[in-house]
Amino acid sequence: MTAPHDDAALAEIELFAIEVVNAAGKLVSSRFGGDMDVESKDGNGANLVTDVDRTSQSLIAEMVQERFPGHMVLGEEDAPKDEPDARDYIWCVDPIDGTTNFVNGHPVYAVSIGVLYRGEPVAAAVWTPWPADGGYEVMHARKGGGAWIGDRKLAVKKPSAKEPHRPKRGWLSTIPGSLRFMFKVDRAARGNLGEPRTTGSAVYEMAMVARGVLQYALTGAVFSWDLAAGILLVKEAGGIVLTPAGPADRVAGGWVMLDGFSPGFENTQETTKAIRGARNVALAGAPEVVWFVSRRLKRRRYGRVRRRMRRWFR
Ligand code: IPD
Ligand code: CA
Ligand code: CA
Repeated sequence: MTAPHDDAALAEIELFAIEVVNAAGKLVSSRFGGDMDVESKDGNGANLVTDVDRTSQSLIAEMVQERFPGHMVLGEEDAPKDEPDARDYIWCVDPIDGTTNFVNGHPVYAVSIGVLYRGEPVAAAVWTPWPADGGYEVMHARKGGGAWIGDRKLAVKKPSAKEPHRPKRGWLSTIPGSLRFMFKVDRAARGNLGEPRTTGSAVYEMAMVARGVLQYALTGAVFSWDLAAGILLVKEAGGIVLTPAGPADRVAGGWVMLDGFSPGFENTQETTKAIRGARNVALAGAPEVVWFVSRRLKRRRYGRVRRRMRRWFR
């Protein structure tokens, strides 16, 4: 086990994460709209991966391993057959989030790096296309240091003073396409969840919450690389991230804070597998709004969700 980090060590990691995500973002965006090899990971036309995802991940892994040989890179693509023992620092990487958008020429995607310390996100850098100078932006954070784009400090959208807990009409929120399969929505909340959108990139949504573009984001059940960076960006921008409580931690309201992955972190293969396998639904935004929304969504039992989805897609 390495020594717990201090702020200077974290600042160095944050700075390097920005450098790496910039390099990967440059590479990925240079291929946007061009030819690429596309495969369906599920073999059914869905869950796409391209040679650009793989090249982006290799670039990130090579840069990190050269600079921090004691750290681990856990990326979405090309999982090793034998997972190594977990290191204290894990760079949790989505080399392109929103691959289906990317393949279809829709410029809503992101490159995401969340650095975990014993399972908890402590540094983050997210690259997104953006209509600004250069055509992109990098959001970054380190634990306790705030979330930033350049020298602009980010803040989640401040709830309306009149009704601080309610999603506001005319303000954007994102919900998954599978919302009605996953949750029973309280009758009064139907049609009152803000102006809902579905973007196809969980990382982008979390980043837009941190940036104050969205009042909240509710994701589907997504992987650690979809959430690692976003959890930290949102928290450092003054928000919180909740997830439905598991059977082991029933609490009033049925939701708990999602602050990281693998609560019983050990430097073992099991921990690496647990982080790779973890899937969480995340609800992110200003605390008042997020708690309000969470109380209006009752999770459907998983077996029932699967049966309903099978019927629907038959
Ligand atoms: C996907 C996106 C999408 C989410 C999917 C993810 P990918 O990631 O985050 O928003 O709904 O579950 O798989 O495959 O584009 O990296
Ligand atoms: Ca993803
Ligand atoms: Ca991806």
